[in-house]
Amino acid sequence: MDYADPKKKSNLVGKILLAAALTALCILVLKHSSTFNTPSAFSRHEAGVTHVLVTGGAGYIGSHAALRLLRDSHRVTIVDNLSRGNLGAVKVLQELFPEPGRLQFIYSDLGDAKAVNKIFSENAFDAVMHFAAVAYVGESTLDPLKYYHNITSNTLVVLEAMAAHNVKTLIYSSTCATYGEPEKMPITEETPQLPINPYGKAKKMAEDIILDFHKNSDMAVMILRYFNVIGSDPDGRLGEAPRPELREHGRISGACFDAARGIIPGLKVRGTDYKTADGTCIRDYIDVTDLVDAHVKALEKAKAGQVGIYNVGTGKGRSVKEFVEACKKATGKNIKVDFLPRRPGDYAEVYSDPTKIWRELNWTAQYTNLQDSLQTAWRWQKSHFNGYGPPLPMAV
Ligand SMILES: NC(=O)c1ccc[n+]([C@@H]2O[C@H](COP(=O)([O-])OP(=O)(O)OC[C@H]3O[C@@H](n4cnc5c(N)ncnc54)[C@H](O)[C@@H]3O)[C@@H](O)[C@H]2O)c1
Ligand SMILES: *[C@@H]1O[C@H](CO)[C@@H](O)[C@H](O)[C@H]1NC(C)=O
Ligand SMILES: *[C@@H]1O[C@H](CO)[C@@H](O)[C@H](O)[C@H]1NC(C)=O
Ligand SMILES: *[C@@H]1O[C@H](CO)[C@@H](O)[C@H](O)[C@H]1NC(C)=O
Repeated sequence: MDYADPKKKSNLVGKILLAAALTALCILVLKHSSTFNTPSAFSRHEAGVTHVLVTGGAGYIGSHAALRLLRDSHRVTIVDNLSRGNLGAVKVLQELFPEPGRLQFIYSDLGDAKAVNKIFSENAFDAVMHFAAVAYVGESTLDPLKYYHNITSNTLVVLEAMAAHNVKTLIYSSTCATYGEPEKMPITEETPQLPINPYGKAKKMAEDIILDFHKNSDMAVMILRYFNVIGSDPDGRLGEAPRPELREHGRISGACFDAARGIIPGLKVRGTDYKTADGTCIRDYIDVTDLVDAHVKALEKAKAGQVGIYNVGTGKGRSVKEFVEACKKATGKNIKVDFLPRRPGDYAEVYSDPTKIWRELNWTAQYTNLQDSLQTAWRWQKSHFNGYGPPLPMAV
């Protein structure tokens, strides 16, 4: 019976091993079946619900678009690597729409094709609104590669993922900067595109890639060329909060608010001898609420195999002087204005002809009072002196 002992021992060891193996298997099966029983709403299509991938959804325009899509009962996935956007904007949206299957945020870089492919394989998107980009003309002349990378190359990555995963609707954020300095105003969609800076060129190249791909596919494509975007959510939930280090490249509305807050000593108006009524440059300012509405209409009217290209502007030019006056009234601050010589590369007059989008998408700008748009944005600025960060005590 000497040999019986080791046999018993090995039996015991075997039983323990078997029990452990069974437990492990149980856990695996449980885990597996739980993911099978409750598959994420994001991973399957649902009749009547449009699941929209909003790239750059933590940014200024993307966050406003996500809010509108969610309000319209769509399902939204935001992909953003927060290089420019704000997690705070995503948190606002998450608090407004906490129900499962409404909104998810994925932190990822669109330059990472592998990561983008994984996102597309794990989610059932019906459409893509591609906002993510770097978007400052001045910066683009200093760092052109960053622009060709984050605009042109990343759009190619998104398009390839859409093709590989059969996502058939694309709404693309383009810009009036793709037109360059046209001789004739207003700018129609037929105005030749001759961009004069890397930002405009990178966007034009991205448009070309999309249009070439579209020729041999049944994709529904809408390209929206925005003019100068201003304003923010009328209910004050979202605003525009660019990184402080981008202020120097910033846009006129940001500069105006910074001057009103006393962060900068005043506004510098460059050029008072242009051939315009008051000598300052003329631009077309479009309120972000109207812009987002154009995206929703574009999404509704997008048709397989067709492409729509639209200017999104008010059709009305406003001079820099007019803008500054509206800003003074909106903020109630007497902003100091210095009039300086022209800045090279600025063109006198840019405004859109928005007839096509009105005719084809029944869209027209509603928020066309400059002072009202700026007042809405200023209200948010005033209550968010630290952007989406923790509130800062500051008297104004
Ligand atoms: N603001 C305007 O006046 C204006 C005018 C014309 C066109 N546009 C276009 O509208 C779009 C949105 O502009 P915006 O003003 O909201 O800019 P924004 O900087 O506020 O938002 C862009 C977002 O994209 C994200 N992003 C950038 N690169 C990324 C990457 N590689 N991977 C993942 N996320 C990335 C940023 O983090 C940011 O949240 C851009 O495509 C821009 O070119 C803007
Ligand atoms: C965005 O992604 C790029 C490329 O992966 C990375 O180099 C960069 O650090 C990221 N930026 C942020 C703020 O995460
Ligand atoms: C743009 O691309 C560069 C790589 O060229 C990357 O490091 C960066 O995070 C991207 N995003 C921004 C906003 O620069
Ligand atoms: C166009 O829009 C207006 C205003 O939103 C609306 O009243 C009208 O019914 C729309 N027309 C069509 C043909 O959709």
